[in-house]
Amino acid sequence: MKKTTKGTIPGLSKNALTVLEKRYLKRDKEGKVLETPVDMFRRVAESIAVANARFDQKADLAALADKFYAMMTAFEFLPNSPTLMNAGRELGQLSACFVLPVGDSMEEIFEAVKYTALIHKSGGGTGFSFSRLRPANDVVMSTTGISSGPLSFMRVFDVATETIKQGGTRRGANMGILRVDHPDIMDFIMCKADQRQLNNFNISVGITEAFMKAVDADTDYNIVNPRSGEKAGILNARKVFNRIVKQAWENGEPGIIFLDRLNKDNPTPHIGEIESTNPCGEQPLLPYESCNLGSINLGKMVQNGEVNWERLKEVIQLAVNFLDNVIEVNNYPLEQIDTMTRSNRKIGLGVMGWADMLILLGIPYNSMKAIELGEKVMKFINDEGHAASVELAKTRGTFPNFKGSVFDAPGKGPIRNATVTTIAPTGTISIIANASSGVEPLFAVSFVRQVMDKNILLEVNPIFEEIAKAQGFYSEELMKKIAEHGTVHDIPEIPEAVRNIFVTAHDITPEVHIAMQAAFQKYTDNAVSKTVNFPNSATFEDVEKVYRLAYESNCKGVTIYRDGSRDEQVLSTGKKE
Ligand code: CDP
Repeated sequence: MKKTTKGTIPGLSKNALTVLEKRYLKRDKEGKVLETPVDMFRRVAESIAVANARFDQKADLAALADKFYAMMTAFEFLPNSPTLMNAGRELGQLSACFVLPVGDSMEEIFEAVKYTALIHKSGGGTGFSFSRLRPANDVVMSTTGISSGPLSFMRVFDVATETIKQGGTRRGANMGILRVDHPDIMDFIMCKADQRQLNNFNISVGITEAFMKAVDADTDYNIVNPRSGEKAGILNARKVFNRIVKQAWENGEPGIIFLDRLNKDNPTPHIGEIESTNPCGEQPLLPYESCNLGSINLGKMVQNGEVNWERLKEVIQLAVNFLDNVIEVNNYPLEQIDTMTRSNRKIGLGVMGWADMLILLGIPYNSMKAIELGEKVMKFINDEGHAASVELAKTRGTFPNFKGSVFDAPGKGPIRNATVTTIAPTGTISIIANASSGVEPLFAVSFVRQVMDKNILLEVNPIFEEIAKAQGFYSEELMKKIAEHGTVHDIPEIPEAVRNIFVTAHDITPEVHIAMQAAFQKYTDNAVSKTVNFPNSATFEDVEKVYRLAYESNCKGVTIYRDGSRDEQVLSTGKKE
């Protein structure tokens, strides 16, 4: 057995260590932890660097591994969880995101259930469109009986997910999508109204441009039976839209995704149509496609009160090299996924620590300056990320489906990856990096976090703690008071200048949430994971406005959450109601 390496990682927080020990570090059969965080990052760095040798026999793999190791342990960049967990290990499945097709036959449906099981076992999440399934009570030729419909089959996937629980590493996550013109759409919209149902699914309605036009014009639209392709009825668009909004107001679901928009940006339309995203909505994929994500911690890209563009560029280049290598060394759970993923070579480079960056620069999240900087930073990452992928194509070749893709056009040229950028939620890797998650504002300055097995972690924002200590207003008592209040706004012990930059999710209007999502979406190939937080008192009209705003401002989808609208929520401010 390999001996564990000594050594520490400066800046590795207590919470990070807890998460790593629970789910990421290698263990023996008795559950004894066999590696340290240093070992883990070494394992990942070395096993990913190896791929460079496939394209350059003289590649200095040790030097590259050192660079990967340095950027991960400085928490400047982290790959998605499956890469941290599985790289350099037997399982070797490194992607977070998958989309599987669900065909309209028993064989195809249960084949998809089996594939889902294999993916969940390896730590990945799955997205599906159920739109191909014939509606409930439709004809079934072989049995001359009637069909059960998409919803009853979704329950099969849900139970399978519940049973697998991903071998104790992480809870399986699914995205279920149904087109708005499917005959069972009204039942789908209501399918999570009972909060005990479909807990392993996020659900989104697949919205079309035709539907949005019908909503605007307040007209009816056609419902189509996917089995026959024939018109199966009409629905009033505004009624359906209102039902979606009402349900989202009730308990946060369904979300919506704009299917035509996803396909407008589909880089390989000659290979297939995009019908679903991964579980958290940020990664549209073709059936049987997978994608690996990685996120740059923007909080670490601030030096002396300014954005360190030079280091950011270096990290982008290294990260694109890293993520392209992940595709190479990845051990795919299925032959079809192996082929499709290697043929398009999609990667999803994004960010975390955006709120931290703004705080360090002294810019309130809910300001024009923040929106403008968001665009500027993401444009830089997108441009430099694409440049790095073009550079890789010179030695590694383009992605195999390049011919006929959107890049195969005048003014464009060889590129290694069909997509380069995605903004992930960074739910767990942001805990490991001690960073704010994705492009979200701080949820709270201090709060209680519930993790997988209901461990409760009280967290104080590290930047706030540092400032409070430096300016002499830190006390345990004050931190508790903030956790109870949920905002620092009305706490006079905190200097006003500090209060102004520590705005939290609930201090921010839904319009600003959407404006920030749109700012990042503008320069992101794939989609942006973002939750628009509403206070408990928000109205139906507030939610409706945001759903429309998301459409008007070119977002690819929207997810909302009204505080307290679900029995269980992951984050809570500890505020007494
Ligand atoms: O932070 P981490 O890398 O663990 O993941 P994330 O950024 O929060 O989520 C990225 C993607 O991982 C999600 O969209 C899902 O595709 C997948 N995921 C999953 O399958 N199961 C989970 N429990 C969490 C995430």
